[in-house]
Amino acid sequence: MTSTHAFWLAGRQATGEDSFDVTSPWDGRLVGKVSVPTEAQVEEAVAAAHAVVDEFAATPAHVRAAALDHVSKRLAERTEEIAQLISAENGKPIKWARGEVGRAVSVFRFAAEEARRFNGGEAQRLDTDGGGVGRLALTRRFPKGVVLGIAPFNFPLNLCAHKVAPAIAVGAPIILKPAPATPLSGLILGELLAETELPTGSWSILPVANDKMPALVQDDRLPVISFTGSDKVGYAIMDSVPRKHCTLELGGNGAAVVLADFASEEDLDWAATRIATFSNYQGGQSCISVQRVIADAAVYDRLLPKVVAAVEAQVTGDPSDASTDVGPLVSEDAAKRVEAWVDEAVQAGAKLLAGGKRDGAAYAPTVLTEVPADTTLACEEVFGPVLTVQKVDGEEEAFAAVNSSKYGLQAGVFTHDLQTAFRAHRALEVGGVIVGDVPSYRADQMPYGGAKASGVGREGVRYAMDDYTYERVLVLTGLAL
Ligand code: SIN
Repeated sequence: MTSTHAFWLAGRQATGEDSFDVTSPWDGRLVGKVSVPTEAQVEEAVAAAHAVVDEFAATPAHVRAAALDHVSKRLAERTEEIAQLISAENGKPIKWARGEVGRAVSVFRFAAEEARRFNGGEAQRLDTDGGGVGRLALTRRFPKGVVLGIAPFNFPLNLCAHKVAPAIAVGAPIILKPAPATPLSGLILGELLAETELPTGSWSILPVANDKMPALVQDDRLPVISFTGSDKVGYAIMDSVPRKHCTLELGGNGAAVVLADFASEEDLDWAATRIATFSNYQGGQSCISVQRVIADAAVYDRLLPKVVAAVEAQVTGDPSDASTDVGPLVSEDAAKRVEAWVDEAVQAGAKLLAGGKRDGAAYAPTVLTEVPADTTLACEEVFGPVLTVQKVDGEEEAFAAVNSSKYGLQAGVFTHDLQTAFRAHRALEVGGVIVGDVPSYRADQMPYGGAKASGVGREGVRYAMDDYTYERVLVLTGLAL
């Protein structure tokens, strides 16, 4: 019999009256049962977080850093077990799940390092004008208050880490809500945090049902909301609380541009392999997976067959098998939606070069060309293993094609030319331009977030720490400067 997983209420384990099942998208087996907090328990967690705001902000950096280092170390020690759990509840191939745990190890380590050096303060002399003689301004950052972190299913551990670790680093209490499809990886973080000396109430992990979230979002005791998920839900949250500080990490339909100078056999092999891998990693369920390939006419005819061959070489199947590249999507409904979008594009005249088949929750790695611009597939984020390839003439047309999307998260530009790299950086309306690689590259310490409908604010440990805090100036008077 499967026991029910408790949630974490103000640092201790608790169970509510109801529970729900977490099942594997691959074979439907029960992975775990998760207890749901009652309204009274949610209130208890919020009240405890609110009550500890001042104490946590005043907790010494060495205490916060030690806790973060501890979580990093324990994640590393428990890598295999946690990777198996991510793979089981999410359907992510085990090799990608192991990579995700490794990234979370780094996120907590970065946060420990940043906690030690954050907020030393910045001094500014004020005697630049007569009225400021003898005055000095000291600027330090203070937490805005409790953070409500809302995490998605696609990186069920690491995107929880990106909410929790920066909050602890700055001394801001956090209430984390993991995704309903994949709560177990987030709940594991609670086991590691419970081994630390962090103040009671400074963290809770609550698998609250989505339909109960509006009340939490509205709660004035939670002034910061950090949300990762769809643009529809993200903007609905922001519109419902326009006076709160919201960080929204939303969708994307990542473009990989291959320019005319990236033309040797070796170049094109590299581009095709990277494109195929990162349009399909975790079934394409990443906001920065490659959805659109925009290739210069000078390389298009040689690149396309290489992309198709590399996509067809992706190994599909059981996510627990170490050789599997592409597992199922998170649910059969998700795979049916992808199928419907591809079918719509084909009916509208797109050419299907690979894939295009669904089997339960699995969707075959798919390549299309000549996709009409007004189809859902061309306009929206597919969040599945589907790639469209488009021919353009020259750099300007390529950059315009990237910008023709409503999204702007990251873009990849395959070029060797430094001037082109800088022109791309200036022209592309995205949060990150990756030169010589796909848009899917992310190092967890760098700023990560979008332009346009891809969101507002930045994650990446130090950038989230800025986001969770505000500047407060201390003016000292009568000093001998
Ligand atoms: C996302 O899907 O937004 C996260 C991508 C990543 O962390 O690699």
